[in-house]
Amino acid sequence: MGSYNYVDHTYDVVVVGSGGSGLRATLGMAEQGFKTACVTKVFPTRSHTVAAQGGIAASLSNMGPDHWHWHMYDTVKGSDWLGDVDAMEYLAREAPKAVYELEHYGVPFSRTEDGKIYQRPFGGHTTEFGEGPPVQRTCAAADRTGHAILHTLYGQSLKNNAEFFIEYYAIDLIMTEDGVCQGIMAWKLDDGTIHRFNAKMVVLATGGYGRAYFSATSAHTCTGDGNGMVARQNLPLQDMEFVQFHPTGIYGAGCLITEGARGEGGYLTNSEGERFMERYAPTYKDLASRDVVSRCMTIEIREGRGVGDRRDHIHLHLDHLPVDTLAERLPGISESARIFAGVDLTKEPIPVLPTVHYNMGGVPTNYWGEVLNPTSEDEDLVQPGLMAVGEAGCASVHGANRLGSNSLIDLVVFGRAAAIRAKAVIETKNSNRQLNLNSCDQAMDRFDKLRHAHGGTTTAELRQKMQRVMQEDAAVFRSKQTLAEGCKKMEDVAMGLDDLSVKDRSLIWNSDLMETLELTNLMPNAMTTIFSAEARQESRGAHAHEDFPDRDDVKWRKHTLASVDEECKVSLSYRSVHTKPLSKESEGGINTNKIAPKARVY
Ligand code: FUM
Repeated sequence: MGSYNYVDHTYDVVVVGSGGSGLRATLGMAEQGFKTACVTKVFPTRSHTVAAQGGIAASLSNMGPDHWHWHMYDTVKGSDWLGDVDAMEYLAREAPKAVYELEHYGVPFSRTEDGKIYQRPFGGHTTEFGEGPPVQRTCAAADRTGHAILHTLYGQSLKNNAEFFIEYYAIDLIMTEDGVCQGIMAWKLDDGTIHRFNAKMVVLATGGYGRAYFSATSAHTCTGDGNGMVARQNLPLQDMEFVQFHPTGIYGAGCLITEGARGEGGYLTNSEGERFMERYAPTYKDLASRDVVSRCMTIEIREGRGVGDRRDHIHLHLDHLPVDTLAERLPGISESARIFAGVDLTKEPIPVLPTVHYNMGGVPTNYWGEVLNPTSEDEDLVQPGLMAVGEAGCASVHGANRLGSNSLIDLVVFGRAAAIRAKAVIETKNSNRQLNLNSCDQAMDRFDKLRHAHGGTTTAELRQKMQRVMQEDAAVFRSKQTLAEGCKKMEDVAMGLDDLSVKDRSLIWNSDLMETLELTNLMPNAMTTIFSAEARQESRGAHAHEDFPDRDDVKWRKHTLASVDEECKVSLSYRSVHTKPLSKESEGGINTNKIAPKARVY
């Protein structure tokens, strides 16, 4: 092994990642008085949250009646009854507070005539426990809500003296022999130095793993790094089979066209010019939940009613909306449509296709963000020293399917919750434990092997093989055959990790090595996704299994836990869903009859 000198750092808290959840956790930790570092592989305001367009859900009632009970009900139903009810209550109940905090921090929300935060309709968000009309619950800053939130949270974090380690790549977790997380190893990309961060608490806010697929709305940086680091510690990942396809990725380019477009009155048509969603979801139509809309679009295409020469996509119309509304409410997608589809959306429809957008699965946590290492004696056993928030975490607040605009609110509610919990569990008086040097060596041994890998396959070749298999065999619709074939193909692909070739051996701006490290993170994500999907013999939320078209609550209302070994072989076990809310009805909580499982229709 090459010899590496280390630069040492000691903090109360190290947050890995600087998207919405990472920055909200960083800010919260710094506000609590913790010595806080945020370690991030990209400049904070370039994190993938910057691409979040449509908005952030909270029952503010600015545009009409709303209630957090209705938001909670919609989230439970959206999750297809797989989400943990305590976490879903926490999300819906805390959402208004979290949004007003953002407003006070300085997020420049769009405004109503009377100066309140503007809210738009989004899919699956309703009134009266799904019996009333769609609700305007999604608070928006035009169609650049994520951008506005990131810039504000970064500024506030700096103001509160959080320290940023920008363009540092987290290599692995450092664990004590008795299994406590005590920090991370990181590589500074611009000068090649290696850093050891010792912390009382590590918060993983590393985002999703959309790039395990060929076509995704996710940035190329979305490589599931935190999930990979957790999997290498023999800790399980949860509900990985649930991968969300956003209905309106731009055909070909994959870039997002916000659901806010349909919220503002846009609609989908097939080759016959038919508004086909009226047939599938008579009540909420184009504003049904996204998994439903993506499936309907796929059926239209499969049955020969797609548009274009190859009849392989769908049209999204906004050309009937006033030009002023488009300019004021949807300026960003007007630009995306022009650049990436060559379309003037004031005059013509946008060609769209369901595209991988979000991972419901991730590192299992409780609703405080504490990572769980479930055992048969204690399914909610906390893994000390480690938290996970945002898309990396699985609280599980989205269950089998996330509602649009419930992601941004998840980021800030649970980033904030992690800081509140840290106040209760971190002892600032005690000094940090000495780092376990074996654990540091293990991390660097792996790093060094990859740096000097001299096999016959380039990282780009192997990554593309993985992405093609995932795209074909773990798609919107899955079957016994595609999943079984996909698992076999992915086993071969994963074996390719032993034959990787890295040409650049340097440590400075070595994108070859960084992409290789990222691929070693993507692979356990992809493997656990396809194996968990193969095992789940039912259809629920985003997991649409053609051989098992119905939801089966008796056998399958349970979370999948998937672990990988050193050869990336997957083993599965299961964990119970939390079905009880946090508060009793007599204390203002929801009536539990309202959230009992039933058929999910829109
Ligand atoms: O459509 C969108 O603007 C995406 C929002 C989300 O994923 O929550």
